[in-house]
Amino acid sequence: MGGTGFVGASVCAQLLAQGWQVMVPTRSASQARPAVAGLTLLELDVHDEAALRQALAGQDAVVNLVAILHGTQAQFQQVHVSLVEKLARACVAAGVKQVVHVSAIGANAQQPLSAPSMYLRSKGQGEAVLLRTARLSEPPAFELTIVRPSVIFGAQDKFLNVFASLQKTLPFMPLAGAGARFQPVWVEDVASAVLRSLAREPAATARAPLTLQACGPDVFTLRELVQLAARLSGVCGGRGRPVIALPNWLARLQATLMELMPGEPVMSRDNLDSMQCDNVASTALPGLDYLGIKATALPAIASAYLSVK
Ligand SMILES: NC(=O)c1ccc[n+]([C@@H]2O[C@H](COP(=O)([O-])OP(=O)(O)OC[C@H]3O[C@@H](n4cnc5c(N)ncnc54)[C@H](OP(=O)(O)O)[C@@H]3O)[C@@H](O)[C@H]2O)c1
Repeated sequence: MGGTGFVGASVCAQLLAQGWQVMVPTRSASQARPAVAGLTLLELDVHDEAALRQALAGQDAVVNLVAILHGTQAQFQQVHVSLVEKLARACVAAGVKQVVHVSAIGANAQQPLSAPSMYLRSKGQGEAVLLRTARLSEPPAFELTIVRPSVIFGAQDKFLNVFASLQKTLPFMPLAGAGARFQPVWVEDVASAVLRSLAREPAATARAPLTLQACGPDVFTLRELVQLAARLSGVCGGRGRPVIALPNWLARLQATLMELMPGEPVMSRDNLDSMQCDNVASTALPGLDYLGIKATALPAIASAYLSVK
């Protein structure tokens, strides 16, 4: 689910390359990105539990990539919690043996409400739903892997690409959360983590749920990432625009105005709230290396796509 999105494109391509048969439910087949050749698109209201259960019949595994980054409290609840409840019940009913759920760094399944933003609180609640369902029986109803990425980069990202294009037009960069720390991870490494999670164990005796973090090898502040995007895309000969770090009150005002503009805001107040906690790996949970993945450094990959735009 959510296979039509940014991460979904890489996950589907890797699954198909490894011989999986892939079915991608989407709310609108006509608006979905050009499908990776070989997958089956299924137009479906994923919020309709009966339809979801029917779609899951006969499937060995489910990968959940459905998420929103902006919205109201009710929308976050619908997409990150209620939908996951329906998905969990549908997986049990359909006898799905493996579930990989992509969440986010900063989500906390044990104390979901302790997270600083609606996005992260609802992500933690969604994780908790799946963990509870998987543990309802012994052995677990399905083998569950929760993958928590930091911010994800790749040719189609809405992160470095946005920083680069903004600097091509603005004389300076008014930046909220300039000091927030991130550990960007390559989209292909996240996709590999999903695939290796699916390869963890065939279904006969499902193992205990696993939560792991998907982070890159390096930590950057948001200011450093903006400057890196400029350097790699050659804005002002690679020097980029002056970065003006906004104080909190001004950052909130900027975010409020962005939310009022049509389309997806570049930065919402809830995004600012998310940046109150560092978006970096903790030592408490395993990382990509647990699955045998050596995380890829950002500059070489990002320069390949930023330099040609
Ligand atoms: N991108 C990042 O930097 C990042 C960082 C950390 C974690 N993550 C997590 O990684 C996962 C994948 O992210 P992504 O960047 O690939 O997201 P994305 O490009 O926005 O794709 C999400 C997919 O979810 C589906 N979707 C969106 N809203 C929905 C709704 N209201 N009801 C049902 N389906 C809906 C859409 O599919 P259809 O339109 O086809 O229905 C969409 O293709 C998410 O869980 C996200 O939280 C991403």
